[in-house]
Amino acid sequence: MTASAARRVQTTPFEGQKPGTSGLRKRVVVFQQEHYTENFVQAIFTAMPSPGPQDATLVVGGDGRYFVKDAVQTIIRVGAANGIAKFIIGQDGILSTPAASAVIRKRQADGGIILTASHNPGGPENDFGIKYNMRNGGPAPESVTDDIYAATRNITKYSVVDMSEPVDLSVIGTRSFGNFEVEIIDPVEDYVELLAGIFDFDLIRRFREQTPSFSLLFDGLNGVTGPYGRRIFVDELGFADSSLDQCTPLEDFGGSHPDPNLTYAHKLVERVARENISLGAASDGDGDRNMIISNDCFVNPSDSVALIAHYAMECIPYFQRNGVHGLARSMPTSCAIDRVAHAKGLDVFEVPTGWKFFGNLMDAGRLSICGEESFGTGSDHIREKDGIWAIVAWLNIIAHVGQTNPDVSVRSIMQDFYAIYGRNYFTRYDYEEVDSEGASKMIDRLRAFAADTPAANNASGLVGKSFSGYTVAKVDDFEYTDPIDHSVSSRQGLRIIFDDSSRIIFRLSGTGSQGATVRIYIERYDQELLDVDTQVALKPLVDAALHISQLKEFVNREEPTVIT
Ligand code: G1P
Ligand code: ZN
Repeated sequence: MTASAARRVQTTPFEGQKPGTSGLRKRVVVFQQEHYTENFVQAIFTAMPSPGPQDATLVVGGDGRYFVKDAVQTIIRVGAANGIAKFIIGQDGILSTPAASAVIRKRQADGGIILTASHNPGGPENDFGIKYNMRNGGPAPESVTDDIYAATRNITKYSVVDMSEPVDLSVIGTRSFGNFEVEIIDPVEDYVELLAGIFDFDLIRRFREQTPSFSLLFDGLNGVTGPYGRRIFVDELGFADSSLDQCTPLEDFGGSHPDPNLTYAHKLVERVARENISLGAASDGDGDRNMIISNDCFVNPSDSVALIAHYAMECIPYFQRNGVHGLARSMPTSCAIDRVAHAKGLDVFEVPTGWKFFGNLMDAGRLSICGEESFGTGSDHIREKDGIWAIVAWLNIIAHVGQTNPDVSVRSIMQDFYAIYGRNYFTRYDYEEVDSEGASKMIDRLRAFAADTPAANNASGLVGKSFSGYTVAKVDDFEYTDPIDHSVSSRQGLRIIFDDSSRIIFRLSGTGSQGATVRIYIERYDQELLDVDTQVALKPLVDAALHISQLKEFVNREEPTVIT
């Protein structure tokens, strides 16, 4: 097989190649348009920070969805023409998002391109996505994604080499094509080795052997994590094959929505209840999200990260070796982790939505464990959130607590946690694929309230007014100044904060591919009421949120698509 010399192809810009919260996501048919994928890939190479693509090593892989393999070939052809010297590619184009981050770091690559639309449905009729990660293994920061977007708007030509036939992605090993090399790697190996060094696998194995009543059910949702789950849960930790469900990656995720939440992971939720499973867990299409559930409890992701932070130094070898240097959460995530930070004398950072905002803090050694309410949990072992990491963290904690409490359960662990810290009740309402114009108008109207201050005592505003018994103390549009590079990200979400620290937050999703998605986040802290149904505890604030935003009028929806 041979590659031609680079040639240039005339092209014109496409509208809307603006990377969102996590890369460029569009329908597959959009990416299939002539020049569309080439343009965007060329823009990545044009914008690649100094020293640029010349002689660089690039990691490439994706979540196994439809069009991944085609896009890998395009990246090879455009990348080689732009000077990439070596491509490290997961076998069959497969790499989970956390594994890609791990591979970039371990092999000291100059960056990576991850092919995924995460938890969005896949297949010819559905979504595809392309995301660029930097040499630290983390998503490109806004400065770089802005440059990529600018490059997509100015593009007139892209460079490609022609291959005599597509590169065979199925055979592990290195092949040279003259000016560049392609190495096909086992997508799972580096990642498993990393996790085995982080957690106490022996402790988990012993707990499993000594506690036959403990059962695990891991649902890969037909996404990329199936092979990772099999290697770790079955081959390494010794759980039975029957602990795995939907663990073969499918190009269309079996026609379902590979998002680990109570709505889309309903098969897991039902099986956990029916089969009385001790720990049920799922990961999303590309493997960076996770859900933790059991026969007696659903763990809210905001609580999950706080719990892991609480136990990290007590039983997770990686943190016992390296220490915990700081904690963080995205702004809408509940403040449970703040309580752990205060108790343990750690810094806690509040960043905008999106994992990319954690990277600078980690690189500066100021952040060890962080999470988002959107089922994202992780640490500084890589620069992406990590679904399987969170699930193994839970196994490690359960096994640790099980040493002194033979009746340990997910629920007992959470109740012990609430007894120490109190409980941050949290829920999120999503209204998916609503009319964009109505959603923008609703947000603009809320933004106008943010100009309102107690000093202004604006009679038409919200501050000082009471809703369902809660009095508004402050309204703002969240703005973040990165403590490391001092970059400012504004307009990150409308916050209505009440005088008892309860919060209602509104923002528009940056990951959808069709219409707009409105997210409403609701939180209330209670030190006494530790075991009330979340929706009951938050009903008055939900009513207040709908009333204040006039959501039903603006987007014409009675009910949310998903409640978490
Ligand atoms: C969503 C989540 C956000 C997460 C992102 C990528 O973004 O809310 O926390 O980082 O997906 O997984 P959104 O659609 O809200 O912009
Ligand atoms: Zn994902």
